[in-house]
Amino acid sequence: MSLDRFFYRGADQFFRDQAGVALTYDDVSLATLYSEIVPRDASFETTLAPGLHLHLPIVSADMDTVTESRMAIALALTGGLGLIHYNMPQKQQLSEVSRVKNHVHGLIREPIKVSPDQLIGDVLAIIEEKKFSFSTFPVVDGSGVLLGLLPGHCVRARFAPRAVIEAMIPRGGVLTICEDELGDDPIMRADRFFTENIGIHKLLVVDRKDRLRGLFTLSDIERITQERSLQTKPARDEKFRLLCGAAVSAPRDASGALDCAGLLAHAGALVERGADVLAVSTAHGHTLGVGDAVRAIRAEFPALPIIAGNVTSATGVEFLASCGANTVKVGQGPGSICTTRVVAGVGIPQLTALYVCAKAAEHAGVTILADGGITKSGDIVKALTLSHAVICGSLLAGCPEAPGQIMEINGKFYKQYRGMGSHAAMKAGSAARYGHVKDSAQKSAAEGVEALKEVSAPADSVLAQLAGGLQSGMGYLGAGDLAALRTNARYTRVTTAGLRESAPHDIIEVKTGNG
Ligand code: XMP
Repeated sequence: MSLDRFFYRGADQFFRDQAGVALTYDDVSLATLYSEIVPRDASFETTLAPGLHLHLPIVSADMDTVTESRMAIALALTGGLGLIHYNMPQKQQLSEVSRVKNHVHGLIREPIKVSPDQLIGDVLAIIEEKKFSFSTFPVVDGSGVLLGLLPGHCVRARFAPRAVIEAMIPRGGVLTICEDELGDDPIMRADRFFTENIGIHKLLVVDRKDRLRGLFTLSDIERITQERSLQTKPARDEKFRLLCGAAVSAPRDASGALDCAGLLAHAGALVERGADVLAVSTAHGHTLGVGDAVRAIRAEFPALPIIAGNVTSATGVEFLASCGANTVKVGQGPGSICTTRVVAGVGIPQLTALYVCAKAAEHAGVTILADGGITKSGDIVKALTLSHAVICGSLLAGCPEAPGQIMEINGKFYKQYRGMGSHAAMKAGSAARYGHVKDSAQKSAAEGVEALKEVSAPADSVLAQLAGGLQSGMGYLGAGDLAALRTNARYTRVTTAGLRESAPHDIIEVKTGNG
């Protein structure tokens, strides 16, 4: 019998032996196992709920400095899921969901247009002012009807006093496609068009009334088709639209009871816009209010995937599952911007919380999301030995797709990242998540801080790095898929000296691992 099993233990034996001491990611390491898995062949497929399937087990946090439509689009394109936060007027949250659901990758929805009576000199001035890198523009009338195409070779200083109408290719000479004809795979359709029409670099999309609806460019299509052969699949619904999740709170009426009518109106509007999953997102999910909110949504939408949380106990998972949640968010206090443990003295280090919740989830027939505290791809590997997907805030908050302006401080570029329990975020609307009311948010104890994140690479490259790390981990554990990762994992504790050994040490680092 192998010595290994005395030292590197499966989850049940390992966590039960540690009972009474809660552990987090850096407290453990995973043992390598015999493997026939080449990392690049490891599969990330994960089903969070009936009808909610991801190709990458990463979800972006429903935080107002992390996920609006741009981030949700980036996540879904990489196979994951974005949860649009609710710290904004409901109308705006609905538009954010619509943007994701209507997004056609590669289709420029709002192309820059010119009018026939504009002077070419004006067009040149706009190009200069906005720093456009292109000079071919569709020409439309006041109602958006396509009149022609202004080709780039006519947009020159020598023609500055001439009107666009004199230089444009008139409508009859412009090749277009009606949006109804784009079909299930608009990219393949556009790709075919460019192959069939030699020398054409722009494909204009119109509606049945010949109004301009969008634009494909050959260079975008070529980039996307190349990426497609390399990358994971986008996460899509059955109508081929990108997946999108949205968060809701458990709102209260003046008497303090759950505002059921308000909640269901909000949930109904999100579902109507195409939201694929709703997340009842609060700091304490094992409560009457959250239970009632989940029960109400489940009763109204029997087949809708519901995420609920947050909890860190088996009874919390059982409770939310019994109310109708399909997926439970696990994490209280591990987040990089959280101060719940400092302020309230509660919360459980994440890996132990995940083990306890995973056992209950297995029994209750639900899945769990590891929410918060993920700082590197190795944490994702560890989290996924016990959960079905991870939620990331901090790792994505520096991406250009995260909401917020870039600011320069001492020559470095940053974006704001704040806890949803920080005073500023609660004032902007998230107070209910922490059991407070918006108007007195300033007087309530904050459970999060306001911070900065250094600007990072775009989300697709951050996610590619994380996915690469996850595949390496799966290769080391001989796991061809996430179910095997959960079964195969063998844990050991790491001491402070072991932790020091785990990161680069005793060297002068000249280049970080991030390139
Ligand atoms: P990371 O570590 O990825 O964590 O930045 C993101 C998760 O942290 C939670 N969150 C908070 N928790 N106070 C808290 O105690 C807060 O102000 C706060 N804001 C976000 C949330 O679960 C998120 O997904």
